[in-house]
Amino acid sequence: MKYTFGVKNNSEFYIQHNFLPTETELRFENVDELKKYNLGRSYLLENCLQIPTKLLNESSLLEIGPDSGENAYSAASMGANVTCIDANPKSIQHLKKLFSKSRYENNLSKTYVGDYLDTYVEGKFSFVFAEGFLHSVLNKEKFVRKIESNMQIQGFFITSYYDQFSIFGDLLHSSIFRTLVKSDLGLESPYDNLEVAVDYGEDIFLKKWQTKKHLRSLRTWILDVLLNPTMSFDRTIDTEWLLRLGNSIGLHLWQSWPNLKRFNNYEWHRDMKSPDELLEVSIQHYHDRVLENFFGILLPEPLEKTRSRSRNHDLSSKLLEINKSLSEQNWSKVSLNVKSLISDLIAEESKTPTQIFSALKMTLAFAELFLIDDFVEIRQILSGQSEKFSSESIFFLGYWGHPNHYSSYRKCW
Ligand SMILES: C[S@@+](CC[C@H](N)C(=O)[O-])C[C@H]1O[C@@H](n2cnc3c(N)ncnc32)[C@H](O)[C@@H]1O
Repeated sequence: MKYTFGVKNNSEFYIQHNFLPTETELRFENVDELKKYNLGRSYLLENCLQIPTKLLNESSLLEIGPDSGENAYSAASMGANVTCIDANPKSIQHLKKLFSKSRYENNLSKTYVGDYLDTYVEGKFSFVFAEGFLHSVLNKEKFVRKIESNMQIQGFFITSYYDQFSIFGDLLHSSIFRTLVKSDLGLESPYDNLEVAVDYGEDIFLKKWQTKKHLRSLRTWILDVLLNPTMSFDRTIDTEWLLRLGNSIGLHLWQSWPNLKRFNNYEWHRDMKSPDELLEVSIQHYHDRVLENFFGILLPEPLEKTRSRSRNHDLSSKLLEINKSLSEQNWSKVSLNVKSLISDLIAEESKTPTQIFSALKMTLAFAELFLIDDFVEIRQILSGQSEKFSSESIFFLGYWGHPNHYSSYRKCW
């Protein structure tokens, strides 16, 4: 089946190809499996997003896009009364089955099948969850405004999405995969023969898949990540944009992963800031730390703040250029940008030992993503200059990229 692009959100892709992107093998009637799952959810909610799970007890929760329903079920087991909406009918069917005759059957209050943007959802909730798909929605502003209208005052909104940086790893995998499908299977596009392409993906990615524990199947990951047309740079969310929109409609950043608030801020007891001032602090912090979050390493505090800010800005613009070129499958541009990024990092004004140190650390971190031999090899494959590809190279096996950006917002008025 040929695939049509320009979809409204990723549900259309799931419906067209008849799969649930997050379906797991978990059996929640086994209490140990549920406990283990709940530990993961508690870590996310409490440690990353500063939301005590106790607040879920007797709360009203709207989950948009629950897919196979594990998160809704987990929240119900913590006492939440759950309402769910998903545009994929198969998702709501699956979710109802999960709840039916379970201990938490009565915690499922209501379900809707439909696009959230086009469906009237009754009520105001103390929690709204919209995880793993906000980037895929075309009209993001309308979507967030509607969420706000479904929230109680003091309620929390929790979301996760591909931001402009965190999409890198998945884009890289998808780019490698699509190129190999073309060169090895002779398919102009994987959608020309999806079954064959997915089978081939299983050959390439099986060993890599086995290096980590996963809840979903390799096949589902291939479809949802490598072949999902909404996984593109153009759809990613600019976190600054979401922070500003939220602030303008009364949804204030509560906490996030990566953290957008300054640690050890010792001015808080003298200098209480207004919501607008706090927003600017978070946005500044985001730009100051975005490279650090991308590379996953701590950078030394720069000595010259203004200078280092403009340097960070230049470097992060280059990273965005790399992601954009990957998304457009323009590999020669990616390779140029990687080269110039690394040489910029090395040539970094070598004034103070701290700056040299920080430049070196970043260069090494980036070079590690592109271990030189693998990088040359992958670049050659993607530009059609080589047919040799080792799906067993250390780089390929070991690199998994970043989790999506997670954040919680509180409705303050
Ligand atoms: C990638 S899955 C994420 C599932 C789950 N929230 C998680 O994070 O594990 C995205 C889900 O959102 C649903 N979805 C996407 N856009 C939607 C929309 N506009 N309205 C309702 N559901 C939507 C999809 O059908 C799918 O079930």
